[in-house]
Amino acid sequence: MIIAVDGPAAAGKGTLARALARHYHFHFLDTGSLYRMVGFAVLATGGDPRDEAAALKAAQTLKPESAHNEDLRGEEVGEAASIVAANLKVREALLGFQRQFAAKRPGAVLDGRDIGTVVCPDAEAKIFVTAAPEVRARRRHQELAERGLAPSFDSVFADILARDERDRRRVHAPLIPAADAYVLETSRMTREQALAAAIAFVEQRRKK
Ligand code: CDP
Repeated sequence: MIIAVDGPAAAGKGTLARALARHYHFHFLDTGSLYRMVGFAVLATGGDPRDEAAALKAAQTLKPESAHNEDLRGEEVGEAASIVAANLKVREALLGFQRQFAAKRPGAVLDGRDIGTVVCPDAEAKIFVTAAPEVRARRRHQELAERGLAPSFDSVFADILARDERDRRRVHAPLIPAADAYVLETSRMTREQALAAAIAFVEQRRKK
């Protein structure tokens, strides 16, 4: 079984997808970390994420297994990720790994922007997690503070709005709920409530 979890920046996709994977004993992949690694690799060599050749080279030489780098979580890398993510060739270079991962048994949970629409259009359960921009900015601000980073709330808020705008407007794999996705609005929900709602939806899909 494949569970696709998509949504805008800092909507709580990662937390929810990880908890679902734990609940079902499925494999878990944070696909955003792949784009973050590409953005990070370009920045680390002094390059510009807008440089398509540099981004493509970074995507083609990526070692997806090493995706657990604390350096990836900052908003600067998030912005670089969303710039390289608009590049179709970069997206294509990362597609095979994601699809192979999704085929793992007994099942997989993938979180990102285009899992339900492009990477796994046949996923049995698709969840589009969202929350009001202010709520998402508050959550991300807190997450960054817990990691010892201290950007102002206003800059986090502005970064998130800019990234959402870029992700929604891009031509390739834009951020949009799949037609058959369950839209989970979490602004007024705790993590536990969001997880319970997601599990209820997945159970419904499993019966079909
Ligand atoms: O954690 P957060 O929601 O802030 O972002 P992320 O999931 O780590 O993704 C970082 C960026 O990668 C996004 O802004 C997207 O531009 C891009 N991305 C994508 O294009 N497709 C995916 N499946 C996942 C991420």
